[in-house]
Amino acid sequence: MKKLVILTGAGMSAESGISTFRDSGGLWEQYRVEDVATIEGYIRNPELVINFYNERRRQLPAVKPCRGHELVAALEQYFDVTVITQNVDNLHERAGSTKVIHLHGELMKATSTRNPNDPSQIITLDADHMDIHMGDKAADGSQLRPFIVWFGEAVPEIERAAEVSSEADIYVVIGTSLNVYPAAGLVQFVPERAPIYLIDPKDVPWTANHRFRHIKKGASEGMEELTKMLKLIAED
Ligand code: OAD
Repeated sequence: MKKLVILTGAGMSAESGISTFRDSGGLWEQYRVEDVATIEGYIRNPELVINFYNERRRQLPAVKPCRGHELVAALEQYFDVTVITQNVDNLHERAGSTKVIHLHGELMKATSTRNPNDPSQIITLDADHMDIHMGDKAADGSQLRPFIVWFGEAVPEIERAAEVSSEADIYVVIGTSLNVYPAAGLVQFVPERAPIYLIDPKDVPWTANHRFRHIKKGASEGMEELTKMLKLIAED
C-alpha cells in the first residue's frame, strides 16, 4: 500500500464547531497567545492557563467529527495512512483514524509540570475527570498540567513526524495556515516524487509553490474531491 501522510491544522476541525486560531473571530483574537499558550504564561499564571484548557476540553463531548475527518479515516481502506495533526482535539481518533501523531499535545491528557514529556507521568482524563485543578498532583508530586506543547517548548514528536513525512508517497495538508514552526517545515521533508495536495478555502503562504495542488475548499468538500482523485491512484 502507498504511504499517505496527512498534516492537519485547526481548519480540519472548524466544521465540527471548534474555532481556528488566526481566522477572524479565531481564538487568538479573544486571548493573548503569550498568556495562555506559552511556557512563560503558565509559570506566571498557572491557574489561568489550566482553566483555559479546561474550557477547551469541556467543548469536546459536545462536538463530533465532520465529514472531512470521516473521509480521512476512510482512506485507510486504500492507503497506509498516517495523520500528523497540530490539533489537540480527539476528532481524528473518534472518526476512526488509527495512526495519529499529535504534534502539539492532546487535550484529553494531563502531565507533570516537572517532567512533561516523561511517558510515565502522562495520564488520560475522562468524562468523570474532565478538569485539572490547582493542587492536583502528577505521579512525581508536581502540579498536574495540560499535556499541551506550548510556544517555547520542545516538540518531542517532530522527529517521528519528519521521518513519516520523508517516506510519504502522497502528502496532504488540510486547514493549517502554516505559520507555526516546526510543524510548517514538515513539507520540506516530503520527497520530490510525492505530490502535495492542499485543502484550504484561503490561500496560505506556500500556495504559489508549484508543488502544492490547491483544492480551495473547506475540509469536508475538499476531502470529497480529493478522495475521488486518490482512489484513482491508489493501486497504480
Ligand atoms: P490557524 O488558525 O493558523 O489556521 C487555520 C487554517 O484553516 C487557515 O489557513 C484557514 O484558512 C483554514 N480554514 C478555515 N476554515 C476551514 C475549513 N472549513 N476547512 C479547511 N480549512 C479551513 O491554525 P493552525 O495552522 O492549525 O498551536 O495553527 C497552528 C498552531 O498555532 C496551533 O496548533 C496552535 C496555534 O497557536 C499551539 O497552541 C501551540
